[in-house]
Amino acid sequence: MTQDEAKALVGERAAALVEDGMAVGLGTGTTSVMFIKALGARVQGGLSVRCVASSDASDKLARSLGIDMRTLAELPELDLYIDGADEIAAGLALIKGGGGALLREKIVASAAKSFIVVADATKLVAHLGKFPLPVEVIQMALPLVERKLDALGLRPTLRLHKDGSLYLTDEGNVILDCACEPITDPARTAADIRAVVGVVEHGLFLGMASLALIAGEDGVAEHRA
Ligand code: 5RP
Repeated sequence: MTQDEAKALVGERAAALVEDGMAVGLGTGTTSVMFIKALGARVQGGLSVRCVASSDASDKLARSLGIDMRTLAELPELDLYIDGADEIAAGLALIKGGGGALLREKIVASAAKSFIVVADATKLVAHLGKFPLPVEVIQMALPLVERKLDALGLRPTLRLHKDGSLYLTDEGNVILDCACEPITDPARTAADIRAVVGVVEHGLFLGMASLALIAGEDGVAEHRA
């Protein structure tokens, strides 16, 4: 099975969990695209759901498929949030934000009764941190935050587009990708980063997901927190 086939498989499996009348949060990234497309197909087949997206890109895709898109103000309580991850470790501790949507992803996830992760098996890791940890930062605070994260040993690099221009999130902030492998104590790392003034959010999602659907050669496996 290719990675794309694995993503399509979990996307469809996650869409099958959505029930009529549910309020659903939509994640961001290539696996979430597969989920949103599968959900769109169910909506076209008559399923009634209202959704909130974690990025402008996911919102646009979902609207193009005829999904009823709302704001968090309209739909502050969600039944489900379904999203991908960059790394998944024991207890469903996650690194997210490779696609730059970590802030809105964490906000939408926090509004949901249940957060289900969808991923292919390459995302499973013994320890978090090989994937650079994204940290979203207010632009004005960038020089200060960069120095402080560096002092914490987190080796931050400013995220740029391929053409060298500054990467900006949907909220107009910048991202520092931190090469902090290995993260031996994720809660401590999260607290250290959160304590830096000017940091808006970080990509450690701890104690948030309750179930991960992981696609591998043997099909989809369920991992619980
Ligand atoms: C975006 C994310 C994504 O969920 C994460 O990067 C995984 O993406 P993909 O499904 O494309 O591998 O956190 O900010």
